[in-house]
Amino acid sequence: MKEKKLHSKKFLKTFFQDRKQVGAVAPSWRFLVNKMCNHIDYKNAKCIVEFGPGTGVFTKELLHRIGPDCKLIVIELNDEFHELLDKKFNDDRMLLYKVSAEQLPEILKENNIQEVDAIISSLPLAVIPKEIREAILTNAQNKLKEKGLYIQYQYSLNAKKLIEKVFSELSIQFVPVNIPPAFVYKAIK
Ligand SMILES: C[S@@+](CC[C@H](N)C(=O)[O-])C[C@H]1O[C@@H](n2cnc3c(N)ncnc32)[C@H](O)[C@@H]1O
Repeated sequence: MKEKKLHSKKFLKTFFQDRKQVGAVAPSWRFLVNKMCNHIDYKNAKCIVEFGPGTGVFTKELLHRIGPDCKLIVIELNDEFHELLDKKFNDDRMLLYKVSAEQLPEILKENNIQEVDAIISSLPLAVIPKEIREAILTNAQNKLKEKGLYIQYQYSLNAKKLIEKVFSELSIQFVPVNIPPAFVYKAIK
């Protein structure tokens, strides 16, 4: 079976096992992946973070785009997705963690990294408990460099208030070419 089909099956299976954590029935489409990844300045980036990689559609693209000296910190809470990512990617620039995304400060400390250039997030904020999602966004904002970017997709505009509260600037773009159609939130530290 082709890799893409296999990953879609795995995604759906994991969704039925843990729908609250996964928050989607299929991996994001390439169009959405590109829309989100296009915002980052890869030439000058030293550390990029990915929250909620699932089967790794963004991870693959980010590894393709980052430079040889840039680190990619990938944080996935789900056991099965974590195991799949560990097997799928073999790249010294990638640091994979099986923890919740609010643990970002501890991960950076462990790796002697002071700040990050950008964060790409697919986290299903709508189903994450309030205190945890607030901690995730506050810690992310704290660890971004000056003018660093937090880029997040969601299937609704429900996250607008919270993201606006934490970040200094926010713009939202509707991306219809995805199932379901998505909103891309681009926030600046
Ligand atoms: C909607 S899926 C996105 C998967 C993939 N990035 C995509 O766009 O196709 C959300 C992912 O976030 C992960 N996740 C949910 N809560 C998390 C948390 N607190 N910390 C890290 N990952 C989390 C889920 O396990 C799942 O893989």
